[in-house]
Amino acid sequence: MNKRIKIAVAGVGSCASALIQGVEYYTRNQNETVGLMYPEIGGYRLCDIEFVIGFDIDARKVGRPLREAIYSPPNCNMRVIPEDDFIEVINADAKVFKGPLLDGIAPHMRNIDQSITFIEDTTSSELTDEEYRQLLISHEVDILLNYMPVGAEEASAWYIENAIDAGVHIINCMPTYISTDDAQRLELKAIKRKVTIVGSDMRSSYGASRLSEILQGSLMDSGLEVTQHIQMNMAAGSTQGEEHIINGRSANTDFLNMGEKSRLHNKHISKENVLTGQSEVRGRGMAGRTIFAGPSLTVVQRPGGVYQGTDNKICNIDIVAYGFGGARYELTARLSVQDSPNSGGIVADAIRFCKVAQEMGIVGYLRGPSAWTQKSPPLHMTTSDAKSECDALARRQLTRLTERQVHPITDMTNLVYTFQKSVTEYE
Ligand SMILES: NC(=O)c1ccc[n+]([C@@H]2O[C@H](COP(=O)([O-])OP(=O)(O)OC[C@H]3O[C@@H](n4cnc5c(N)ncnc54)[C@H](O)[C@@H]3O)[C@@H](O)[C@H]2O)c1
Repeated sequence: MNKRIKIAVAGVGSCASALIQGVEYYTRNQNETVGLMYPEIGGYRLCDIEFVIGFDIDARKVGRPLREAIYSPPNCNMRVIPEDDFIEVINADAKVFKGPLLDGIAPHMRNIDQSITFIEDTTSSELTDEEYRQLLISHEVDILLNYMPVGAEEASAWYIENAIDAGVHIINCMPTYISTDDAQRLELKAIKRKVTIVGSDMRSSYGASRLSEILQGSLMDSGLEVTQHIQMNMAAGSTQGEEHIINGRSANTDFLNMGEKSRLHNKHISKENVLTGQSEVRGRGMAGRTIFAGPSLTVVQRPGGVYQGTDNKICNIDIVAYGFGGARYELTARLSVQDSPNSGGIVADAIRFCKVAQEMGIVGYLRGPSAWTQKSPPLHMTTSDAKSECDALARRQLTRLTERQVHPITDMTNLVYTFQKSVTEYE
């Protein structure tokens, strides 16, 4: 493809950095396919993605070229491209602008070592709504990636809703708009502006959500009754041998931010949506099942350490199920991953699904790609159904689901939603 997909990034944190470095890596190594689910989607490869502008609030990122900001602390993702290399997939003029802070920094994040937390920029003025929309338009942005910290509901709404007003397509990587009411309202607004959305709360290519979904789905499809599914996620400093003891840092910024329970509400719901979704999609209710999924442990930082990064995450899964004649099964799994790059591949796919769908005239939430790439999609699907929707879109083929969403949409009742708990009803 000669046409490039122009991307704006709100929140130039570790995930954005991992994505951008990964896109550069596959652009330099075009025969490399390891780590990619879809080398090509509707004719688009990773080398067709271009990052044109960033938004942040951190003093070490605001006002700087995007190519420098992605390496600024507290980002701690692994380096794939050396810091002093020219990154071709970032536009030479791409800069980081200061958005409004709103609820972007949790109070507890202001009380830890500055090298591992956010530092609010106080020198530049923040963009107004109009200035932000104009920047998106003048930079010809196709898609906004929302990478706000968990709990930054107001900040997410500001970036997403203003972008939709500017006619920009959305990939919502964080857990917001996860109730049916909120998702429906956003979809209506998007449809009016002919905007396409993938959301909400990105999964990793192979992370806790994918593993939980596959294990639970395969047990159920084998006729078993899953009565308990516990998914515990840890920022994993304590399992990294001597390294964390020397440098003191035991969690990426995302985990540190989630150390405060009040920030976790939506993230918790979103993670459990993956588990409940696999029951509901098979016509089984939740009665009698014990389900838990959530960021459960962040190892507290030792004061006085030299805080270098660790982006390691560990997930432990425990499942109990009953089968033939009531026989009991117990299944335990452990997955250790580099957290930020694990989300890079799937977002690189979501970007291209979004662009292809938009070229095909599909508006509103992309149900298949949202179910495949996100934890809280508007419509839950089995793993294989979500994948075959994505495969069809990658071939630029409409399906029974997507043909209802080609603009203009004549019957809004065709836009199906399932299983999104009202966020106020939960707990
Ligand atoms: N695999 C993964 O790491 C993964 C998976 C699923 C979801 N997520 C979610 O993606 C999001 C981003 O994750 P991350 O690891 O990059 O987080 P991060 O903490 O490294 O980055 C967040 C960035 O947002 C910036 N920010 C804070 N408030 C802002 C505001 N008002 N305006 C603009 N920028 C602001 C911060 O300065 C920082 O640069 C989080 O919500 C996370 O939970 C991550």
